[in-house]
Amino acid sequence: MIQVGVIGTGGMGGRHARNLAHKTPNAKVVAVMDVDVPRAEEIAGDCGGAKVFADLDSIVADPDVQALVIASPDPFHAEAVMACLKAGKPVLCEKPLAVTIAEAKEILDTEVASGRRLVQLGFMREYDVPHQALKALLDSGDLGQPVLFRGVHVGERFAEPRTIEDVIINSVAHDIHSARWLLQQEFTQVYTQWVRDVVDRPETCRLFLGQMAFKDGTLGVIEMNTATGYGYQVDVEITGVAGSARTSPASAPVVKQRRKQFQPIDPDWLVRFDEAYKREVQDWVLSLLAGQPTGPTVWDGYVAMVVADAFVRSAKTGHPQVVPDLERPA
Ligand code: NAI
Repeated sequence: MIQVGVIGTGGMGGRHARNLAHKTPNAKVVAVMDVDVPRAEEIAGDCGGAKVFADLDSIVADPDVQALVIASPDPFHAEAVMACLKAGKPVLCEKPLAVTIAEAKEILDTEVASGRRLVQLGFMREYDVPHQALKALLDSGDLGQPVLFRGVHVGERFAEPRTIEDVIINSVAHDIHSARWLLQQEFTQVYTQWVRDVVDRPETCRLFLGQMAFKDGTLGVIEMNTATGYGYQVDVEITGVAGSARTSPASAPVVKQRRKQFQPIDPDWLVRFDEAYKREVQDWVLSLLAGQPTGPTVWDGYVAMVVADAFVRSAKTGHPQVVPDLERPA
């Protein structure tokens, strides 16, 4: 049995807490923490009466808490991961690992110095069945050498207009990891173009279009539309020299009815990736019982941050940017 504490009990933290409490054998949610205490109390009740904390240090130090999930807003991830590392407790941290390269590097160096893997990153597309099927096809070699990665990641409408930095660091981070994981290649160059969202706010982004090149010469493009008006979708298409393959676009079937053919589109990530979120925490708990996490690493989080930073620099300068060649610690 792994006794888990959940930091941040909003949309994602609430989902992880309930999945751990009700869908994960060998896991128990024993504590939750949120600056919004009534929110934490509600989730604690849903999880069968977990302890409620209002500050980070207390939940990390609680002797009943053996492992933690971080699902607070992005700027608070780095401090929370560092607290878990210092306490020697395993942690599943939502993406992004941090919001600056310096913070991500500090976490990487601290974990490496500790001599054991404690951190897993929430790049949960690795647990999505359509993505796994595409990965298996690629790994079989049937598509031949890849020449193009196309990632489409679109949302219906976020509550507030988003800055270009937030779109890249918070959302495109998923697509950056997808490309690295599926192609098993590192980025060498990126180029950002984008369409503004609010006319008199030049920092806001409605549509991000990123181009990229990888070490082996494969090219790629990522499209992130923050306001489709029609729903949420994540698609990946990989073209190889011997064919191309694309993930299924939605969880619902294609319907033919009254002379129309249609496929309902998911409203958001909580619906589209419902199964993947369950499988992610189930796998995480099993891996901890076996000794250490086996999912996406601190290294993956750090590299995603370095690539995201290059996309941000390209957005600001209007020029393609080189992605530094990084040496992975042994
Ligand atoms: P949310 O706004 O629904 O929830 C955030 C919660 O954190 C709120 O309850 C808020 O009161 C609490 N909070 C604020 N400051 C805090 C602090 N210092 N310490 C602890 N809790 C604090 O946001 P949402 O959508 O749940 O996102 C949370 C994280 O999950 C973000 O980092 C986001 O990037 C990530 N996320 C990941 C997704 C994925 O597919 N892997 C999907 C959606 C979000």
